[in-house]
Amino acid sequence: MSDHATQIKSMKLYTHIERIHNELAEIGKDKNAPLEASELSAFDQLHYHGTDAVDHAIDMLSIQDNSRVLEIGSGLGGPARHIAAKTQANVTALELQPDQNELAAELTERCGLSASVEHLAGDFLNYGWGDQKFDCIVSWLAIYHIPDRPKLLEISREILEPGGLYFAEDLFSRNVMSREETEELKTGIYAAYLPGMDGYKMDFVKAGFEILECDDMSEDWTQFTTDRLAHYRNAKDRHIRVQGEPTFNAMEEFYDLVNRHFRSGKLGGVRILARKS
Ligand SMILES: C[S@@+](CC[C@H](N)C(=O)[O-])C[C@H]1O[C@@H](n2cnc3c(N)ncnc32)[C@H](O)[C@@H]1O
Repeated sequence: MSDHATQIKSMKLYTHIERIHNELAEIGKDKNAPLEASELSAFDQLHYHGTDAVDHAIDMLSIQDNSRVLEIGSGLGGPARHIAAKTQANVTALELQPDQNELAAELTERCGLSASVEHLAGDFLNYGWGDQKFDCIVSWLAIYHIPDRPKLLEISREILEPGGLYFAEDLFSRNVMSREETEELKTGIYAAYLPGMDGYKMDFVKAGFEILECDDMSEDWTQFTTDRLAHYRNAKDRHIRVQGEPTFNAMEEFYDLVNRHFRSGKLGGVRILARKS
């Protein structure tokens, strides 16, 4: 396993993934029972606003049945399955962490979507794409984990068709952070690259992309993470019963940390759509 794949486990969202099987048991699904992608969406979307956010991307990118889509950092496969189930597009889902990738592939198989979603394990910066090309690249809360943005965008440009689209929901630095804040984000959310908004856009332009849309999501995501934390705490007894106390504690700590940094006004959220020029 790569160093990144090991070190990223400092982020507690990634440490108790057995919670997915616990949630499935709670809704009465046997271990190998077939599933609908929609039955998973309450717990397989590791970003903000769940499948609504993915639907927004589907519309912005006009993803349809003949689209070839690459998701960078596909996690448990939630967005990739939703795109495939909704549009019948061909989705390639690349994930750094082997355990998440394995679980994602199992869930996709159980949803009967393996013909549309290909799960790959690996680090985007080192993955050998050969002459494979995509119409669009998408990612939700993944690329801030990847330290080398120029390289990430250079590879992205190479594997996109002419005029291909790049969509990301991601994090940025809204205001200057203290050393302590930077350190806490480095471990707590494995933040490897958090430029300011101007630098964020400049990276895309320098890499040969035209920015079509760029929205500051910070206020929205501050509210979202505030509500998420409150709901999670309110349902503490239920979560401890279904997921166990160690998982509850890890998830609560993670939700609290993210929310604190959004509320400080220093951690920001961005949604960007860019075209290979
Ligand atoms: C917050 S999760 C989001 C998962 C998924 N996009 C979703 O919204 O449900 C970000 C994912 O990006 C993955 N990731 C981080 N660095 C990566 C890299 N270099 N290559 C591929 N995946 C990466 C992480 O392992 C993690 O599963």
